Amino acid sequence: MDPVSVIRKKRDGEVLSRKEINFFIDGIGNGTLPDYQAAAFLMATYIRGMNADETRWLTEAMLNSGEVVDLSGVKGFTCDKHSTGGVGDKITMIIAPMAAALGLKVPMYSGKGLGHTGGTIDKLDAITGFRTTLDTDAFVRSLNDIGIANSMQTETIAPADKRLYALRDVTATVDSIPLITGSIMSKKLACGADGLVLDVKFGNGAFMKTEKEARELASWLISMAPIRNIRVSALIDNMDDPLGYMVGNALEMMEVIEVLKGKPVIDLVEISIAIVGEMLQLSGETGDVEKMAKEVLANGRALAKFREWVAYNEGDATIIDDFSRFPQATSRMEIALGQAGYVSKIHAKIIGEAAVYSGAGRLAKEDTLDYGAGIELHVRRGDWIEVGDSVATLYYSKSRRNPDEIAQLIRGAFQLSEKSVPPLKRIVSTIRQ
Ligand code: URA
Repeated sequence: MDPVSVIRKKRDGEVLSRKEINFFIDGIGNGTLPDYQAAAFLMATYIRGMNADETRWLTEAMLNSGEVVDLSGVKGFTCDKHSTGGVGDKITMIIAPMAAALGLKVPMYSGKGLGHTGGTIDKLDAITGFRTTLDTDAFVRSLNDIGIANSMQTETIAPADKRLYALRDVTATVDSIPLITGSIMSKKLACGADGLVLDVKFGNGAFMKTEKEARELASWLISMAPIRNIRVSALIDNMDDPLGYMVGNALEMMEVIEVLKGKPVIDLVEISIAIVGEMLQLSGETGDVEKMAKEVLANGRALAKFREWVAYNEGDATIIDDFSRFPQATSRMEIALGQAGYVSKIHAKIIGEAAVYSGAGRLAKEDTLDYGAGIELHVRRGDWIEVGDSVATLYYSKSRRNPDEIAQLIRGAFQLSEKSVPPLKRIVSTIRQ
């Protein structure tokens, strides 16, 4: 077998065999195949697609290119959560302590943010001292000790994906269902959990632009569950507007803490309850899972678990009661619009980009972050605003662009209407295995 014949076969629209896919992905993972052949394979797959068998073999081969984390030493049901990425998406930090306070074990390997969507690791890094890299022993210990383990994804998990993902970014082959499925599920299956709840987002701030595409992707992702015999379900939700009010690392952590303290930020609370409910259901819980999730948020047990999580990881837990201990931006600017009306849309992707320019995100992998930078929204879809009302505050220190330009970008994210507008409906469906 040789790489050229595999590329040619896919280029010509033929179905690859399991052997051919294994051979090619092995070569990607162990570095024997060059980037130009990997790129050609990606483009051929992007254009010709893959059937269900090929997608499964691709996922298996990518999974087997690295280590599968052994969580057999963890007592209890381990349930992971994965979001396909959004703007202001801080749900992981809310659901992890909720689920752990309800007795689930929550193992999560996460990444840093790049582009307009933020990364969980960057948000946790906004807490001084918080340890975000755990080796496998420490990861298992953390799950047994406090019910949560979160670590930067290691180099040993699905290395073939690491190489392919970097190439997809620069070869216009990101938005392909088989490639996304292989990429997400190889990493998630490698993490060794018993269950997985997927938060598949659609809208202008997400990968998938329409609900139909998100549903299709969710079905493909779920169909990979038998590879490791895990239980998977997916929430489909709308990411046209940012999630919650805060976008930026320290700002988002403050909002997480406020929600855990009982602040009713409706979309964050609604999605968190739905995800924790799904996690409980996957674990075999037969009681009223929604009620259990609501209670653990309301009775302070999730907040107590968050406190324990921060302290266990040597983070500065005093931030929970004193937000001035978070990294702070040195400057702020209030942003108003020259019009009155009902807010009919807050374009998530634009707000995400503006947050990157403020210093909260990266334009290139090597960029350093300003943890205090970002955007606080003061309104959401459906709210009425008067001319001159501040709709957002921009926080910055050394921004990546002129702050006036960023402010202009933020103004452009708002759409107003003379007629009243209903709030954005976030969760549109749940897809179960
Ligand atoms: N996230 C991933 O990890 N991979 C993809 O292909 C898309 C989103």
